Amino acid sequence: MGVTHNTFVIESFIDELAAAAAKQDPVEYRRALLGKSPRARAVLDLAARAAGWGGPLPAGRGRGVSLLYSGWGSYLAQVAEVAVSKAGEVRVHRVVCAVDCGTVVNPDTVKAQIEGGIVFGISGALYGEVTLKNGRVQQSNFNDVRVLRINETPAIEVHLVRNGEPPGGIGEPGTAVTAPAVANAVFAATGKRIRTLPLERQLRFGLRRTIMRAFAPLIVVVLPIAACSRRRSAQAADPAPFDPIASVVMHPRCMNCHQDESPRQTDAAILHRPLVVRGKDGHGAPTQPCQTCHQATNTADGFVPGVATWELAPLSMLWEGRTKQQICEQMKDPARNGGRRTGQEVIEHMKVDPLVLWAWTPGADRTTPPLSHEKFVQALQAWVAAGMPCP
Ligand code: HEC
Ligand code: HEC
Repeated sequence: MGVTHNTFVIESFIDELAAAAAKQDPVEYRRALLGKSPRARAVLDLAARAAGWGGPLPAGRGRGVSLLYSGWGSYLAQVAEVAVSKAGEVRVHRVVCAVDCGTVVNPDTVKAQIEGGIVFGISGALYGEVTLKNGRVQQSNFNDVRVLRINETPAIEVHLVRNGEPPGGIGEPGTAVTAPAVANAVFAATGKRIRTLPLERQLRFGLRRTIMRAFAPLIVVVLPIAACSRRRSAQAADPAPFDPIASVVMHPRCMNCHQDESPRQTDAAILHRPLVVRGKDGHGAPTQPCQTCHQATNTADGFVPGVATWELAPLSMLWEGRTKQQICEQMKDPARNGGRRTGQEVIEHMKVDPLVLWAWTPGADRTTPPLSHEKFVQALQAWVAAGMPCP
């Protein structure tokens, strides 16, 4: 069983060694170490040749290799080709796997086993994660465990070595050899060495850290300036009528949907798991619309929230990262608020819309905004009566 989890560590480390050893080519580096293991060397050569190792790649893509000796008589080598988006999403475009499991009785079954293993291996490498909360596993089924979908599945080629060696085992190896090949390809494409699975979480969090680091000096300079200017504008208009409204709209139950590319979850505002994206109209990607999981009402004992029109708020209503003054101005701007002009039109949505009302019946253990909906509507009316001043 050791190969199923150790291969990621071993083959990532070998790749690091290759890079440290005067930037040697990862395939050449492995070949040089395999003088006493002709079968391992043969699968490595076969996979590298079939994958066009060393040949040109479209811009932004990288190739990674990994090797596996199963201990029950089978050798595998795999080459993965990936691209990584700016947001840290990994797309695996092609996987080539060479297999020597000794005498093969039914080649088609072996190929099918490896193909399925690769799809499962990519799912695990990119997203696979089991988390515990209050002593219980949080994941329950495929609504909250993301697996690779057909449209995300790469081109897969499996090459079998024909020989007369005793038959080896061919269950897990196709899965086990995949994560390091993909992680090594991510390194080739981005220069980022990831030592912890799942990869996408590392890439996304790494990215946020990088952004924070890049902007940190700026924040140090800008924050005091912003604080000064806000103090000045606070004197100009009475911000009081908007304050209770801000306390609601800036609560996670509203903010989690008023996002840019992906919704957020829980009061900690973590990126939506499994990752879902905005898509063309805020309804998610065509293959994974919000309604796949979010139904007309809260389901699964309130764990999956639901309203028939569940979707991301339009980008004109992006609130994440905005100040309450900016949010206030957005709310009043007909160009951004869905064409609402009069005060009553501006607040109508917040009085009756099912998505807004959901925030007070969110299900499970979710917190609700600090004001009741009734108090919120009173605050909205008072703000309109005061001429909708912004802080
Ligand atoms: C499930 C996602 C979701 C949640 C939760 C959510 N919104 Fe929205 N919000 C939307 C969408 C979608 C729109 C665009 C509505 C439309 O086009 O009819 C929107 C639009 C708005 C608008 C602009 C008015 C308009 O008609 O476009 C306001 C104001 C607003 N939401 C307030 C809130 C408040 C306040 C909360 C929390 C109490 C909240 N929203 C919670 C998704 C959400
Ligand atoms: C694969 C299933 C799935 C898909 C598709 C999906 N969601 Fe979710 N979503 C969930 C589950 C499950 C939760 C609850 C997670 C939790 O509370 O820990 C959730 C929670 C959320 C929350 C957090 C609500 C809160 O504040 O507690 C928001 C917002 C959300 N989803 C928006 C969306 C949007 C918008 C889409 C489409 C673009 C979408 N989701 C697509 C499964 C999904």
